[in-house]
Amino acid sequence: MSLFDISQLSQSEIIAILDRADEMKKSPVGASYSGKAIVPMFFEPSTRTRVSFDLAASKLGAAVVSFDHRNSSSAKGETLRDTARTVGAMDPDLLIVRHEKAGAPEAVARWSGTPVVNAGDGRRAHPTQTLADLLTIRDHFGGFAGLRVGMVGDIVNSRVARGLLYCLPHLGASLVAVGPATFTPQEGIWDTDVSTDLDSVLGELDIVYLLRVQKERGGGLGYPSDGEFHKRFGLNDSRADQLKPGCVVMHPGPMNRGVEISDSLADGERSLIPSQVAAGVPIRMAVMARILDGAS
Ligand code: CP
Repeated sequence: MSLFDISQLSQSEIIAILDRADEMKKSPVGASYSGKAIVPMFFEPSTRTRVSFDLAASKLGAAVVSFDHRNSSSAKGETLRDTARTVGAMDPDLLIVRHEKAGAPEAVARWSGTPVVNAGDGRRAHPTQTLADLLTIRDHFGGFAGLRVGMVGDIVNSRVARGLLYCLPHLGASLVAVGPATFTPQEGIWDTDVSTDLDSVLGELDIVYLLRVQKERGGGLGYPSDGEFHKRFGLNDSRADQLKPGCVVMHPGPMNRGVEISDSLADGERSLIPSQVAAGVPIRMAVMARILDGAS
């Protein structure tokens, strides 16, 4: 079975993946998946997701087969459908697909006849980032119930935001989406409060989850400038004074330092950003192992 979107997973399946990731952190599985072949197919740039999938596959003992789309026959005009059929005909065990078009991972799974993990498709979904964030939150707070989470910045263009907006209320946390009106969801679409005034909500938050302005997806159009964004919605030292003592700062990366977050907060004691990156490896091990084990 493929993983396209976090909403495919029940709450108990999510918790089981987090538990398995925790086990994998404690005891490496060795070469349990030797003989399995994984093909990461990234049609958009990535650092964290790509490297962590590769590392995770290697820790599982599986082979990672290189596919560089810029040097593939896509560059000669081959369609995504033909590329997927071609790769599928060689019978790999699992594909990891990132693509600018929402829905591309499902199409690749259908055309290739191979299970796919969605590594980010357009504005739609990035389920392994959501799971890495949930593992990071659970490791730090011990659970989710009662946490107040502020999602700040370009929410409507963010696939990462969508995953957390879907999951966190089911797990007992409450949310407030904060940003300019052009970046925040309409009231009532998600189970979240909405605010355009960061300073009025900062003091109530356990987690400030910052999001990059997604310029490659149209984010920022109609917004005056990075400097103006930072003035109204950036987390910096003067705003940090308003945070509760135990409040932590998260960001999926890549960060625009000086826009949504200042250096001192990105690198400071409140930052869980390195933990989010680290959580990506055991989470991707757990997700791939689940699929390779044949979970339905
Ligand atoms: N968070 C995330 O998806 O980062 P990359 O684009 O570097 O993979």
